[in-house]
Amino acid sequence: MRRKLIVGNWKMYGSHSANAELLAGIVGGRPYLADVAVCVPFPYLSETAVALAATDIRWGAQDCSAHEQGAYTGEVSAAMLQEFGCRYAIVGHSERRQYHAESDQLVADKAKAALARGVTPIVCVGETLAQREAGDTEAVVKRQLSAVIHTLAHCAGEMVVAYEPVWAIGTGRTATPEQAQAVHHLLRAQLHAATPRADAMTILYGGSVKPDNAAQLFAQADIDGGLVGGASLKAADFVAICRATT
Ligand code: PGA
Repeated sequence: MRRKLIVGNWKMYGSHSANAELLAGIVGGRPYLADVAVCVPFPYLSETAVALAATDIRWGAQDCSAHEQGAYTGEVSAAMLQEFGCRYAIVGHSERRQYHAESDQLVADKAKAALARGVTPIVCVGETLAQREAGDTEAVVKRQLSAVIHTLAHCAGEMVVAYEPVWAIGTGRTATPEQAQAVHHLLRAQLHAATPRADAMTILYGGSVKPDNAAQLFAQADIDGGLVGGASLKAADFVAICRATT
């Protein structure tokens, strides 16, 4: 039986005061049956680590450099994330693929850099609306995941995968539980061909997860939790989603 994992993706939101209130709300909502984590903007890692240190809530970042270190202005390395106690780094979020032109191979290299420092990459894959309507969903997510599988090789079983249909992110338009499950099933089958750990691996769903649709999504056979954007910024909503697991 896989343990559920709920990850809040704060994106580029937050302030010292808002973070303190949000984190206190999440801590106050314990205990959770699921594992719970928040992925925060880099400057807030330190205060998040302090606020969560004595709890079982985990934290992480929303990106990490593919490089070990060096003259890469503006980049943050996996070694730095490790120093701040990050358990996770989201890599290949569709907003980075879209606005920062991240290729499948760059995403794979970032995942590898994270793992090399003991930071679990949460690798995002997902199709756009045009790709779904053209019947290309399967080909797109397979191509995105296959780059990571090949680059991680025997470590592929260590990553977390997040299926995030681009058309469902921040739009209020959630994939139905059946639509999401169908893609999760494909992804797990692909992982099976690559690693003996496939059955134990966590595959998250992301895209307009809310308190009122979370339980149905998380009840699907291959959906092991959620990567939650907008609803992770309100403590009451995020706590409700974290509780929507059985
Ligand atoms: P959303 O974002 O929950 O606001 O749709 C999810 C994500 O981008 O990870």
